[in-house]
Amino acid sequence: MRIGLLTGGGDCPGLNAAIRAVVKHALGEYGHTVIGFRNGWKGVASGDLQPMSRDDIRGVLDSGGTLLGTARFHPHRQEGGLEAVHATLEAERIEALICIGGDGTLHAASKVAESGVKVVAIPKTIDNDVAGTDRSIGFETAVHIATEAIDRIHTTAESHNRVMVIELMGREAGWIAVQAGIAGGAEVVLTPEQPFDIDRITAYLRHRHRAHANFSIVVVAEGAVPAANTSMEWQTKYGDFGEIVAGAVGEKVAAEIATRTGFDTRVTVLGHVQRGGTPLPSDRILGSRFGVAAVDAISTGHSEVMTALHGEDVVLVPLAEVAGKSKPVPQDLIRVASALA
Ligand code: F6P
Repeated sequence: MRIGLLTGGGDCPGLNAAIRAVVKHALGEYGHTVIGFRNGWKGVASGDLQPMSRDDIRGVLDSGGTLLGTARFHPHRQEGGLEAVHATLEAERIEALICIGGDGTLHAASKVAESGVKVVAIPKTIDNDVAGTDRSIGFETAVHIATEAIDRIHTTAESHNRVMVIELMGREAGWIAVQAGIAGGAEVVLTPEQPFDIDRITAYLRHRHRAHANFSIVVVAEGAVPAANTSMEWQTKYGDFGEIVAGAVGEKVAAEIATRTGFDTRVTVLGHVQRGGTPLPSDRILGSRFGVAAVDAISTGHSEVMTALHGEDVVLVPLAEVAGKSKPVPQDLIRVASALA
């Protein structure tokens, strides 16, 4: 069988472990041929490809990024995009695709599957917001990096008696902010799931500094938004909160805390540091498990499914049920973050 393989959307640690697992298992167990597409769906549409051998995956298990390259490209949104995908697959006699990606790539995968191509998807995103799976490849490493950053910023906060605002990734969901916030002992964690009230935050910080502390850590997910009752005032003062721009909400929150409290306040926007570098063992293991499961799924006739982690088990879920949906942080986890503030 000839299988196409691609990684799409933002890169993350653990992708190469998944690629390695797909190639090793497909070649070793089933004698399939694996064709790697460069730069996600863009490579499928343009026929930019490379046959994958064991040499291509040697020594990649502990490396960050994706050896296949990636792009934010959605064939179903391009004029003639789906036709171009079909033309490449026919020319290369590819019978099935394994697509490793986050919400955008999986949405494209479901559209390509609807158009008659056999597709198995693997969820990855540091944001952990892909529906239908407990974990996505890359998330645990991102939480680890973000927690380490909070730990390091803590020392400056304490030494200088400052409020330190740390903006973390997470447009649709605040998984990294909540988990790194809990692990790093943040005083305030702001997420897209729970619109925030700047009056309450600044009142709380003033009370905390008066009562027993001389510093505070405020973690903000980049998709955090003010509650409706405060948004008008904010929008007038700082501009629109609608469009998510890296650093924007962190800067606004820090500026308002400084103005209202008079506390010395600084902001750190962690950005793409969260997506880079060596994957934790847990992401290498998850990538390996998903890679093997995807090859098994294709080889046993499955299509339009996504590998998923349910508790300790890797299972298959229907792609149509998860593509295009987000997975918000559950309230009980958000409650832990606020209970410990
Ligand atoms: O991959 C998801 C993500 O990391 C988001 O959290 C973030 O907003 C976005 O990617 C940044 O994307 P880009 O690298 O294209 O700026």
